[in-house]
Amino acid sequence: MKLIITDGDPGTKAAEIVKEKLLAAGDKKFVLSLPTGGTPLGMYKNLARMNADGEITFKNVITFNLDEYEGLGIESDQSYRYFMENNFFKFIDIKKENINIPNGLASDLNAECEEYERKIKAAGGIDLLVAGVGENGHLAFNEPGSPFDSKTRVVELTEDTINVNARYFANAADVPRRALSMGVGTILGAREILVLASGAKKAEAVRAAFEAPVNPECVITALRNHPNAVIIADKEAASLIK
Ligand code: PGA
Repeated sequence: MKLIITDGDPGTKAAEIVKEKLLAAGDKKFVLSLPTGGTPLGMYKNLARMNADGEITFKNVITFNLDEYEGLGIESDQSYRYFMENNFFKFIDIKKENINIPNGLASDLNAECEEYERKIKAAGGIDLLVAGVGENGHLAFNEPGSPFDSKTRVVELTEDTINVNARYFANAADVPRRALSMGVGTILGAREILVLASGAKKAEAVRAAFEAPVNPECVITALRNHPNAVIIADKEAASLIK
């Protein structure tokens, strides 16, 4: 696993890497997996600008988001579908039919998760997966204890995560208790993984990624089982690495 330490926003570096990969893919389809959260906002801004300037196009890109809250859809400004539309998709030339986000409103959530896995397979697997990391080391909504071979499934959020995410809601009681999330195994199935970490609150998770024993109680350590994973951290997030 590699570490890149950035002077400023890790999202700026991530956008450069995504651009390189898109240019290398040329006219071939490219399957890109995307996160929500505060950390990737700079990446989305940079990619949208590159697209507007004609440096890159998303017309051959198929996206799969990492996760979605149970019970929330595009009409809710807390849904990840709303986040993606308003922070990224409406600014780029991606085809609507190439956007995939788990449907938190599906009547059968387990069937929705199975269908999501099937769609990823049918697309040829994930070329590049971008994720953030939680303060507790989670990737997507794979909370501590998530098996490394887990697939897309319905998960319970931990109290920690609910409290961290409460900043986006009127109060903590409004944060959904469950979500649909790609599994750790789904994430490890990507050909390349980029994890972005920004700020001192992520320093312990970044340290653990490199120094803690590989174990499901700290999900980010799963990346050490992957041949092509990179963590991009700013100085604060990398500050505890020896
Ligand atoms: P953040 O979320 O980018 O808002 O810090 C990351 C995560 O919890 O995965």
